[in-house]
Amino acid sequence: MIVLVNGKIADPDSTLISPLDRGFLYGDGCFETLRVAGGRPIELEAHLDRLAGSAETLRIPLFAHWSRLQLSEQILAAIQHDGGDSAIIRLSVSRGRAHRPGLSPRLAEGQPTVTIIVIPHQPLAASQYRRGISAIVSRYRRIPAECIPVEAKATHYLPGILATAEAEEAGADEAIMLDIHGQVAETTVANLFWCAGGTLFTPDPSTGLLPGITRRAILELASEAGFSVHEVCAPALALASADEIFITKTSVGVLSITRLDRIAVGAGVQGPVSAELLRRYLARYRISLEATE
Ligand SMILES: Cc1ncc(COP(=O)(O)O)c(C=O)c1O
Repeated sequence: MIVLVNGKIADPDSTLISPLDRGFLYGDGCFETLRVAGGRPIELEAHLDRLAGSAETLRIPLFAHWSRLQLSEQILAAIQHDGGDSAIIRLSVSRGRAHRPGLSPRLAEGQPTVTIIVIPHQPLAASQYRRGISAIVSRYRRIPAECIPVEAKATHYLPGILATAEAEEAGADEAIMLDIHGQVAETTVANLFWCAGGTLFTPDPSTGLLPGITRRAILELASEAGFSVHEVCAPALALASADEIFITKTSVGVLSITRLDRIAVGAGVQGPVSAELLRRYLARYRISLEATE
């Protein structure tokens, strides 16, 4: 694992972040998760765009201290240091160290804390994509955009953490989260699509979902493949009649949910629409899957 703190390589076992860091005190920060495939970061510019939007929305003066070019150079340097072909990068930004606890952003002194962590990543095998994952519908709801604007991929993930614990306790891999009005929004760390009667659906951004970079790519790939996608506000019941359900996120691309609340979705394996979109996603980013069982 490679760790950079404020641009400098650091030892992950002895790196200290201040106990007065606002990220630690209040979750006062934002982050990006990137995927490295073939030694290159996928959608680097899109991630930097979203990070810039997050910092601006949260009023964190990230670009008063680092240029966008410096950040991308640090990411590339960290990847080179790691030397691996396949990795996940966690880029975190907090408002930085404060001179005392207190909510005012003005209490932050110095520069935002920027960490870049490169974690070696074993991509899922083709058989895992075919098998898919299980999910529950969580009782915890997505934080509405009126509380944390969706333009910010903020480090505040407690509802998702509680929903993940709920899924784990139920023996499931993922949790689908509804918005406060009971409409399907997304999962804890991924966007959601479903297919019913030959039509593709995905939750409308008004549900407060995080506008995923993979979601955007899949909307483009779906349109190239001739599928029309409807952005909808739909109750959880809509998922019960789906032939296919799948999630989209940076680390996996397109992954089917094949059991929902212990009931098989469609045939209980990856369906043809998810398989086609995964094929196009892998081709777009030149990622090859291990064929191991
Ligand atoms: C809440 C949430 N929704 C969706 C996503 C998927 O976004 P992306 O496709 O940019 O990885 C993430 C990824 O971290 C997430 O945390």
